Amino acid sequence: MDEDGVHEVVTGIEGRHLGGWGLLQIAGCTGLAAYSVWALVLMPGFRKVPLKLQVPYMPASARQMDNVLTLLKGRSGKMVDLGSGDGRIVLEAARRGFSPAVGYELNPWLVRLSYFYAWKSDYHRRVSYLREDLWKMKLHDCKNVSIFLAPSVLTLLEEKMLEELPDDARVVTGRFPLPTWAPSAIIGEGTERAWAYDLRTVRQATTANQHGTEV
Ligand SMILES: C[S@@+](CC[C@H](N)C(=O)[O-])C[C@H]1O[C@@H](n2cnc3c(N)ncnc32)[C@H](O)[C@@H]1O
Repeated sequence: MDEDGVHEVVTGIEGRHLGGWGLLQIAGCTGLAAYSVWALVLMPGFRKVPLKLQVPYMPASARQMDNVLTLLKGRSGKMVDLGSGDGRIVLEAARRGFSPAVGYELNPWLVRLSYFYAWKSDYHRRVSYLREDLWKMKLHDCKNVSIFLAPSVLTLLEEKMLEELPDDARVVTGRFPLPTWAPSAIIGEGTERAWAYDLRTVRQATTANQHGTEV
């Protein structure tokens, strides 16, 4: 197309008024595209999870990840990340000696990505990423738990963990604290902050509250 031809096309587009119908079509297409990314990339596998429990993927920053693992320093045994995303926290936990190191993640793309990272660093035999709904998992043997989920689901998760985790478990949350538990340790600032909770202490406080006494 020569220069005059291009000029004609551009003037044609500039001169055309979109009108209400055109704008509606653009809005519809944009909405559909956004929904497709949401449904196909960010939230596949979530159909059976009630809407109020659906938490989208947002990766922890390197500093947040380091803070979470610092709060697990000196501990050993099984480590799980509930909603493990791209699997980096589990991978780093395995590097620091936790075994088994397990991620529960519903999004199949993220499970694949996690194994890719693990394979690239030659840790694929030392980690497991299970495509499971964390609400259906039993946590009785999980001594080290990491969580980075939305505040809206944390009250329910407190109840589940109080019921299922062993007494010597430590739970570490990144970015958002648990709503009613008292932390044993806090590290970092702002969005990088992480909180640690020891189950024995949390249970003692819960029992004391039920009996109306101070711990
Ligand atoms: C905010 S991201 C955190 C990812 C990772 N833990 C990190 O810190 O980088 C939360 C992750 O939890 C996953 N998730 C949400 N609800 C889940 C469920 N019911 N079972 C398993 N995974 C879930 C999401 O797919 C998402 O990848």
